[in-house]
Amino acid sequence: MGTSAGDSMDVVESGRRAAERSDASAGSETRSATFRIWRGTATDGRFEAYTTGVSEGMVVLDAIHQIQAESAGDLAVRWNCKAGKCGSCSAEVNGRPRLMCMTRLNELDLSEPVTVEPMKAFPLVRDLVTDVSWNFEAKKRIAKFSPRAPDAADGTWRMQQSDVDRVQEFRKCIECFLCQDVCHVLRDHGKHDSFVGPRFLTYVAALEMHPLDTVNRTGELKEAHGIGYCNITKCCTKVCPESIAITDNAIIPLKERVVDEHYDPLTALVRLFRRKPQ
Ligand code: SF4
Ligand code: SF4
Ligand code: FES
Repeated sequence: MGTSAGDSMDVVESGRRAAERSDASAGSETRSATFRIWRGTATDGRFEAYTTGVSEGMVVLDAIHQIQAESAGDLAVRWNCKAGKCGSCSAEVNGRPRLMCMTRLNELDLSEPVTVEPMKAFPLVRDLVTDVSWNFEAKKRIAKFSPRAPDAADGTWRMQQSDVDRVQEFRKCIECFLCQDVCHVLRDHGKHDSFVGPRFLTYVAALEMHPLDTVNRTGELKEAHGIGYCNITKCCTKVCPESIAITDNAIIPLKERVVDEHYDPLTALVRLFRRKPQ
């Protein structure tokens, strides 16, 4: 298809408008901000200050990349999607666990240096990178999904939509481990051997409330996963970038199940006849 003179005029005009927009954005205020970034290991490290230019729309991860390019080529930082979906860029920004790629600079007070440091609940590798492999080991200790036999001869199941909907919230988790980082049981008390943390209590909730699952995990929740250590401070819920109601919708219902089945003999007896086998 050809292009008419009128079309050409439109192209020129739209190009001119784009150039004007570009000039306007280039002219939009670009100012500098200072970032105090943790450099080094846990035993041999310090905060170092870097000043870089910032402009509208930038997030903390942009500033970190810019600093890498300009003045700290060996700065270690983990990231992948830059879209809040891979869970790789977790760090602490001004003392709060956050995804660096989802933290806009215009949410921060740039008149003061912005502090960027690694998560505290896991061993530090270097700079902003922590070793989160403990989480993957903790996940392996949770009893796997085990569905009941199909309801129909064609191998399909029948479920209530409300039961399906209930676990969807938990499936939004991106495994950023920010909730693990903020939880005082792991962060301050180092109970990694005896407490799986809010991320994996949410994972257990997704399995326990799954309408097809047949396993009863209340025993392992009480013993190996240490649900009793959680004192419902809700710090985990406050930092979750997926807005999962970790405490209200996952941990509290699991605690109720554990109490019902392990501390209330009458309910335990009733459940024995009504619910999944142990
Ligand atoms: S509510 Fe429980 S799991 Fe969440 S941060 Fe507090 S103690 Fe940790
Ligand atoms: S529950 Fe939320 S904060 Fe915790 S790992 Fe998943 S997405 Fe991150
Ligand atoms: S880079 Fe993927 S969540 Fe930030």
